[in-house]
Amino acid sequence: MKIIILLACLAVAVSADTQEQWKNFKQTHQKSYRSLIEERLRYQIFSDNLENIEKHNAKFEQGLITYKQGVNQFADWTEEEFIAFLKLNGPAQKAKSVEVFESIQDAPLTQDWRSSGAVTPIKDQGSCVSSWSFSATGALEGQNKMKIGRLVSLSEQNLIDCSGSYGNEGCNGGSMTSAFEYVQDHGIMAEARYKYEEVQKKCRYDESQVVVKSSGYVNIKENSETDLINAVGTVGPISVAVHATPNLQFYQSGLFNETLCPKDDLNLGLLAVGYGTDNIVLKGSWGEYWGENGFARFVRGDNLCGIASMASYPKL
Ligand SMILES: *[C@@H]1O[C@H](CO)[C@@H](O)[C@H](O)[C@H]1NC(C)=O
Repeated sequence: MKIIILLACLAVAVSADTQEQWKNFKQTHQKSYRSLIEERLRYQIFSDNLENIEKHNAKFEQGLITYKQGVNQFADWTEEEFIAFLKLNGPAQKAKSVEVFESIQDAPLTQDWRSSGAVTPIKDQGSCVSSWSFSATGALEGQNKMKIGRLVSLSEQNLIDCSGSYGNEGCNGGSMTSAFEYVQDHGIMAEARYKYEEVQKKCRYDESQVVVKSSGYVNIKENSETDLINAVGTVGPISVAVHATPNLQFYQSGLFNETLCPKDDLNLGLLAVGYGTDNIVLKGSWGEYWGENGFARFVRGDNLCGIASMASYPKL
């Protein structure tokens, strides 16, 4: 009898804790739902996710997993919704001529372009499937900083609205190299002049306001992580594509390592901004609540999730 009462108290304590976390979650991420029915559904998804996150973290505490998970803005999304949010198109087709990166210089042992001011603050794509545009602006921002010595945030919305004829699909996916081709032909406006809206709208590009134009782009040899590291080490931030698995939904900190991550079927654009001896540092576009203040560290040396499958950078 005592045991039953104890168990009952425990169950109440757990669900009270879940409710407290639910309240915090809604507040932090400014979530509101259209109806009570939807709110109940979202709460159920949230508590299931929370349970899985806690199970994952118990394994982390035991040293069985090298990264931690945590609640972020995706905590009321199902795995199916998260997977639907991941999409990338294949490499661009139109390119006049594409160079392949050749390392001419030894890369330093470690690199971090954030400390040299070549990386803009973390942005947030919201629910628009546009990681491709953030990965592209990140590489352009880095190369522009190398060239002019100033960091200028560039407009994803410009790419989303205007680069359709290059094979991009706005909030339904695109590719970094198609974005670079657009910027080669038209240039790109600053973030401050063409703000992010999270939905595709009519193209409002103004040629007189272009701040960066590229002269083409360079591909990293397919699946050569050595070349990718060398490029990140010597050239600047590099656009990469990965196969994001559902485990990335709640990635919070540590070394992301996934035994069974496919190296094809690339569905997420990220920006490689540095590396350590055992990791590659990636800038995401999912705000600062995801990962290590918006960044992730992927294990190095295994072409994890195909990180070196479709890497590139623009020439300025
Ligand atoms: C990553 O996972 C692989 C496969 O399980 C393992 O061999 C490797 O040691 C792991 N790397 C780290 C740094 O934990």
